[in-house]
Amino acid sequence: MQLFQKSIIKKPGNLVNAKEIIKKAYKEKYAVPHININNLEWTKTVLLAAEEAKSPVILGTSEGAVKYMGGFKTIYGMVVGLMEDLNITIPVVLHLDHGSLEGAKKALENGYTSVMYDGSHEDFATNYQNSMDIVKLAKKYNASVEVEVGSIGGEEDGIIGDGEIADPEQAKQMAELGIDFLAAGIGNIHGPYPSNWKGLQFEALDNISKSCGIGMVLHGGSGIPKDQIQKAISLGISKININTELQQANAKAIWEYVESGEAKKGKNFDPRKLLAPGIKAMRETVLEKIDELGSRNKA
Ligand code: 13P
Repeated sequence: MQLFQKSIIKKPGNLVNAKEIIKKAYKEKYAVPHININNLEWTKTVLLAAEEAKSPVILGTSEGAVKYMGGFKTIYGMVVGLMEDLNITIPVVLHLDHGSLEGAKKALENGYTSVMYDGSHEDFATNYQNSMDIVKLAKKYNASVEVEVGSIGGEEDGIIGDGEIADPEQAKQMAELGIDFLAAGIGNIHGPYPSNWKGLQFEALDNISKSCGIGMVLHGGSGIPKDQIQKAISLGISKININTELQQANAKAIWEYVESGEAKKGKNFDPRKLLAPGIKAMRETVLEKIDELGSRNKA
């Protein structure tokens, strides 16, 4: 009798790369939600909400999140286990967000179905060469690839950067490498948008989108007004990355629970009770985002 099986969890058939779901979204003009996951509660909530709405979903992890959660193997095991235990039927993509060259290689070796190589801090020649290497490597794993041109802005210590608006010619060259989706700086910013934010640069987006001819990725998807999200989708955005908005929804709900005094009653120190308001708020946020992006019933 065999007492030990090498692995009791098989890779689910619906843990897929992003190739087909992005092509479909690009053609039908909606965007697939890319939600950054931070722990088990996050992952379970996102999977259940996307399943409820019958929306495809991309689970994104930055290298920082990978380190925080233990490593690539832990995340792969958690995602695959949850998909099986929760009977998830929608297409799910496990994607490395803003990966380094090394990080992208490790993600692919550990079962990720999609990677972003972010060479936006490099000169274009280096970014291009590294992107080419990742495309070649990803082919062996049948994984999808995202790269970036220009850069995403951000606010640090009160200094507001617009980010570098991407060059359409560079976007075209990247697309010709055979990447599956392209992130581009179009005035978008990670984290909360400052009150004096100028908004998305639609002319730049239109030029880059026409030039690359593939689905584009909007990073910094939290807090962008709905009309701008929808215009961006009409111009070729097919994947929208959301992290901050879920973090804020989760934190706000837990703060309110604590401040109301409820969290201190009875056995509410139990993490299953203490974290429950955050989970409920995240579920609602994911469902709202799915409707905003138009991906409901697109699984
Ligand atoms: P936000 O945190 O602004 O939603 O951005 C997420 C993101 O772009 C991850 O790549």
